[in-house]
Amino acid sequence: MSVLAGRSLVVGVCGGIAAYKVAGIVSTLAQRGADVHVVMTEAAQRFVAPLTFHALSANRVHTSLWEMRAREDHVLHIALAHRAAALLIAPATADAIAKLAHGYAEDLLGAVALAATCPAVVAPAMNTSMWEHPAVRANVAALRARGWTIVDPESGFLAERQQGVGRMAAEERIIGALEEAVARTRELEGQRVIVTAGPTREAIDPVRFISNASSGAMGIELAREAALRGAQVDLVLGPTHLEPPHGVRTHRVESAREMHEGVMALREGADAFVASAAVADWRPAVAYDQKVKKGDVDPVIRLERNPDVLAEFGRRKGTTFLVGFAAETQDVERHAREKLIGKALDLICVNDVSRPGIGFASSENEMLLIWRDGSEALPRASKREIAARIWDRVAVLRAAPKGES
Ligand code: PMT
Repeated sequence: MSVLAGRSLVVGVCGGIAAYKVAGIVSTLAQRGADVHVVMTEAAQRFVAPLTFHALSANRVHTSLWEMRAREDHVLHIALAHRAAALLIAPATADAIAKLAHGYAEDLLGAVALAATCPAVVAPAMNTSMWEHPAVRANVAALRARGWTIVDPESGFLAERQQGVGRMAAEERIIGALEEAVARTRELEGQRVIVTAGPTREAIDPVRFISNASSGAMGIELAREAALRGAQVDLVLGPTHLEPPHGVRTHRVESAREMHEGVMALREGADAFVASAAVADWRPAVAYDQKVKKGDVDPVIRLERNPDVLAEFGRRKGTTFLVGFAAETQDVERHAREKLIGKALDLICVNDVSRPGIGFASSENEMLLIWRDGSEALPRASKREIAARIWDRVAVLRAAPKGES
């Protein structure tokens, strides 16, 4: 049985000639048991009649933000977005991609896309020169950065009677991407996950602090991926300029003590705790109320220990699956194994931060995952990809009977 069976899908059809091919896609989705709700832009209706999609989906086709509906879905864009297991946008024209990238909500499709927290799959189709234009490249990159799946167009015969890249991807690739996205959403459905991310700041005075170079990117990607897999995610996030992901509850903190307090308040009943934050182990014993003047102070800063959030969780973990991180520069594996045992972890993800281009404040990482009776090396990849591989490993370890991982 298809993973799409019984799932509600929103298919956004935009105004490109490939709109006629989406009729085939909707038909296949319906045959696989999906409950397909088609939203057409005004331009799409110039290419295909709404009646076509109505006949194929057996659902009313939506063409306007201003439709008046019965009580249970009287706010149509919200009802559609919140019911959807996934959103497919095909053919995604350059105009539609630009509007989606910038969050326009002037029509029904834009409003649904803004309200949706489910995975989104986008199948662009346009002329080669438009596809290669820097504006389109930037807009596509923005959607990718949001966690949306882009099914790149293929090379072939275009409507302009030329060969080139820009033809909408074949049906099986688009449906495959949709199935993959929906399968991922089920994995953590009904589960509650806590993720820590970013650095902490330990105040010396109101304008100075001790901190580290963590950007929060690794943890933000882990939180995003958990939400895409269906979890209810609490992200306890240290100071960072990065935006937390959509669909995640974010709790902003500054210091290690605040992070400790935030996590402990959420601890009860959590199914997994992923500690990717670079928490300061020490803080200044004295934090001055006023900005310190050069001559006013003893140049030695005395430090005292911060609480170890992960170790404390480990002591009281119950059934929570615990994932720790380790940033090491030497004897990487040995130190990571000590933390795995010492903090009662189920899995530790170690990065050798002496290697250039990975670890702190980089867009890529490279990790060794270690658990009690196994390990896996994750080669260099984007932090998004690494986060997905970590959740894949968590799924395998949680599914394995004790002692069989
Ligand atoms: O944020 P980015 O720029 O994307 O960079 C990602 C990262 C390099 C910060 C990340 O991949 C990483 O390695 N995070 C852990 C860094 C670290 O501080 O490791 P540690 O060896 O000091 O701590 C071990 C574990 O205990 C970590 O899970 C840490 O969150 C936790 N810990 C540590 C100290 C403390 N007081 N409380 C904790 O919970």
